[in-house]
Parts: sequence; structure tokens; C-alpha cells
Amino acid sequence: MSNEYSHLIDLNDYPVEWWNKVITLGASICAHPQRYVQACAGKIMATLFYEPSTRTQMSFQSAMIRLGGSIIGFDNPMTSSVSKGENLKDTTKVVSSYSDILVIRHPYAGAAKAAALTADCSVINAGDGGHLHPTQTLTDLLTLHMEKGRLSGLKVGLCGDLLYGRTVHSLLKALSCYPDNEFVLISTRELRVPHYIIQMLTDSGCKFREETSLEDAIGDLDVLYMTRIQRERFASQAEYLAQKDVFRLTPDKMLRAKPALAVLHPLPRVDEIEMAVDKDERALYFKQAKYGMYVRMALILRLLECETPAKLLTGGKAENGRCCGNPKCITATERYLPASFRNAGGRLVCEYCDEEAIPYPN
Ligand code: NCD
Repeated sequence: MSNEYSHLIDLNDYPVEWWNKVITLGASICAHPQRYVQACAGKIMATLFYEPSTRTQMSFQSAMIRLGGSIIGFDNPMTSSVSKGENLKDTTKVVSSYSDILVIRHPYAGAAKAAALTADCSVINAGDGGHLHPTQTLTDLLTLHMEKGRLSGLKVGLCGDLLYGRTVHSLLKALSCYPDNEFVLISTRELRVPHYIIQMLTDSGCKFREETSLEDAIGDLDVLYMTRIQRERFASQAEYLAQKDVFRLTPDKMLRAKPALAVLHPLPRVDEIEMAVDKDERALYFKQAKYGMYVRMALILRLLECETPAKLLTGGKAENGRCCGNPKCITATERYLPASFRNAGGRLVCEYCDEEAIPYPN
């Protein structure tokens, strides 16, 4: 287990004070970027993107370049030795020996944690399947800090694909740690947040409710977090098409919203926000994307200080012949990975993907 480096796999591996320091540093980099132009001189960041990306990849790259560092990596695994059948462990081991920080995006849940197990440098999770996206959450938190001036006492509506949207999962996990936030979860029945997120909200004592109408919910929100329906995560095209155009933010709906509403979206947008909304000063998603670069600069600096060695797995066993049954968990494809489970409120969950263990199939 790699214990010498600080990784960012899940924001909740760190205390809220740590996130706040990253956010504050992000805000001061945003105000005085010229002070940091040499901060990472001589350092190399590798970006391994096994899934498509525009903002996350390029904001990480520009963040490192603006800190005076350099970048290597791939954005299409098929042009790397992954296409020859190389496993995640070997790719990570080698690339991390060339670099000081490794940013990974992968279609399987738990992939960043798996990579961190063998990496010889810090690893950042830039999205692991439909699971988590902690650096998007740092982006969202910096945006709220800058634009709303607070991270607590907010009524936040999250709308769209709450089942597969990893940005939603990470954001709910984070905002539920600040006091007095309340959530309105706006989705179809099919795309409700996963059970473990509902459990987490219940356990943390947060006020939340599930809704199916954006129109009805928008009126008393402080923040509206729109999301794209995650086409690539559906089992069939027909299931995707049934969900595709259900929610659409229009200028008409914006008329019902508070004057100080903040509309956020991790982007890319497909059709869920009409382009006419872009002119509304409450539409903050392009600013949000820019804050993402500053907060990633702050994160790189923080992790390279290396003051918090990571604890990745507890090594807990799955008793009574149980195993991780999630076909989209990294342990389903990278078979050499050590299984590891933890007890979460009486449920045994896989430590890579957070899904509940199932009886071992006979
Ligand atoms: C998000 C992602 O990749 O999860 N994009 C991003 O990183 N800004 C959201 C999405 O793809 O819908």
C-alpha cells in the first residue's frame, strides 16, 4: 500500500478544514496568480485520461503550467500501451516514476484508489466512473465561496442525472459536511441518487427531499446545480433516450427563481440549459469552469507539500462469502487488486466503489 504520498481520491478522506484551506488558497491564487508562477518549477504532472475530458484535463494542465511545472500524459489510452493490454497497475507504476503528481480519470469506480496503491507519487482522482469527482467539487465549492460568500445555510437543488452523475455524489458528500445546507434532489424516478448517498444524507442529519419537477422546485433555491444525462453510463440507447430531454432550464423557468440564485453546471452541457439562459447573470457555469483551474493549482500545491500520508484501504474482509458485485467497480476488471471492505452503518461496503457487498455468486 502506497502510504508515503498525499492523494486525493475522495474529499471525505480529509477533514473539512483541509478543503477550506484549498479553497482559500484557490481564492488567493485567483487574486494574485503572478505570485505562483514558479511554485512548481521543475515538477512534472502526468494526466492519464481513460475517458474523454475537456475542462478537467485542460484545467489541470494549465494549472501546472501556470505554476511553472510541466506536463506529460495521454488523453486516449488507445494510443498508449493500454491498447496492448497493459494493466492499470503497471501503467501507474511506470508513469508515476516519471512524475511528481498523477491525475487519473477512468470509467471504473475505484480506479484512482487502485492506481494510488502502487503509485510512486501523489494521485488525484479526476473522475472514477459514475462514482466520484472530488476536484469538480473543489471547483464547485470555490465557485460558491466566491460568488455566494458562503458554503453553509444554502438551499441547493441538484437536477438531472443524479444516479450516474459523479459530480453530484461528490458535491452532496461535501456540502452535507457544512452546517444548515438543505438539498432538493430533482430527477426522474429512474435517475434518483444511489442508495448510499441517501443513506449518507440521512446519517448526517441533513434536510433533503426528492422532487420530479424543476419548475416547482426552482422558486426557493439559492443554488441550482444542473447536470447532463450521462449517456455513456446507460445499459441501452433506449433507456438513455427515455431520460434525455426531461429537464430543461429555460428563461421562463428562471423568472420563477430568486434574484440571487446561482446556476452551476459542471459542463459539458447538452440540452439541459437553453443557451438563452447564458445571458442571465445568475448563470455562473463558465465562471465556475475558470475557478476550476485556480482550485486545481491550489490542490497541486497542497498535495506536493506531502504532509498527509494517505490511508487507502483498511484491508477489511468480506465475511460470510460476500464480495463486491458492482460490475463497474475496478476490482471487476483488475483482478489482482486486494479486496477490501468496511462497515458503514451495519452495511459491508467495497472500499473501491462504496457499493454494498453481495453474496458470492455460486
Ligand atoms: C463532468 C464529469 O466528467 O463527470 N465533467 C467535468 O468534469 N466537468 C460532468 C459530465 O461529464 O457530465
